Amino acid sequence: MEEYEVEAAPERLLADLKAGLSQDQKSIPPKWFYDEVGSKLFEDITRLPEYYPTEAERGILLSNAGAMVSATNSNTLVELGAGISDKTTALIDAMTEANGQLPWYVPFDISADAIVTGAERLAARYPGINIHGIAGDFDLHLGHIGGEGRRMIALLGGTIGNYPPEPRQKLLRTIAGTMKPEDSFLLGTDLVKDPARLVAAYDDSAGVTAEFNRNVINVIAATLGIDISAEQFAHRAIWNPDEEWIEIYLDALENVQFDLDGQEVRIDKGEAVLTEISAKFTVARLEQNLADAGMQLAETWTDGDFMVSLSTAG
Ligand code: SAH
Ligand code: TRP
Repeated sequence: MEEYEVEAAPERLLADLKAGLSQDQKSIPPKWFYDEVGSKLFEDITRLPEYYPTEAERGILLSNAGAMVSATNSNTLVELGAGISDKTTALIDAMTEANGQLPWYVPFDISADAIVTGAERLAARYPGINIHGIAGDFDLHLGHIGGEGRRMIALLGGTIGNYPPEPRQKLLRTIAGTMKPEDSFLLGTDLVKDPARLVAAYDDSAGVTAEFNRNVINVIAATLGIDISAEQFAHRAIWNPDEEWIEIYLDALENVQFDLDGQEVRIDKGEAVLTEISAKFTVARLEQNLADAGMQLAETWTDGDFMVSLSTAG
């Protein structure tokens, strides 16, 4: 497995916090959720009754992976933000059937633990499969995705929705820039729907999402040696009807004060720190986002709740 600058994480976290916590609306970028504990908590989220996107996307992939692969002739699967590669088997099965041999698989994730867990499971299920894991940050290291042949570049789980509009366009443009004419982009997006169902998916009754959200405080404390604790914050999820996205906050339960390498940070009791958005899509918005990035939406598959789409670039 290749690792890119995973050692430099403390410096990057520090820089991200210095920028995010000096704005009027304080924020922490969501990529820092996924330490070992956070990756496990996300896995728990995917099994919650309220969190419908994972099973919806799995169903769409199981029913349509054959069509997705025959539309693209792909024989290499690059997966961005692969996590433990749980839904990926639908695509690997379809590529194996279409090509008469196992595809190359290139999982790319910021969490090296998740890649290793996923790769071990896949190697047990598909003896002989070539897996080339990359532990890196796709905001920085997308230039390193290799992979021979006709690549399908997948970004599943609605992860694109965690990017605000401008960074989203930047990521999509970067992906488009790495694509050769024979490559394709497979994107999973959650759809706009009843706000009550959306909020429940990000504020479950068992409190797993709350624990996941608050864990980012533990990541900061442990990575930077700062004396703050998850107990000082409460989880809150709301639907923003104008932007059509979920916003997830950590609300300070008391005054919290700490030093970021010389920069004093003060979070007042009752102040909200934005830790994530999860944008929900319509076909029209998706098509526009892709077009703005130089991609053409070719086909979509949906169950009414979630959508998987195929696009080309160039
Ligand atoms: N694809 C999986 C996981 C989605 S969760 C699924 O559909 O269930 C989002 C994943 O993206 C996590 O595994 C997280 O570690 C990874 N991730 C988030 N930001 C990232 C970044 N900037 N670079 C690389 N991986 C990132
Ligand atoms: N990509 C996932 C989503 O937007 C990530 C996610 C699920 C998440 N639940 C969360 C992120 C709760 C932060 C908090 O659905």
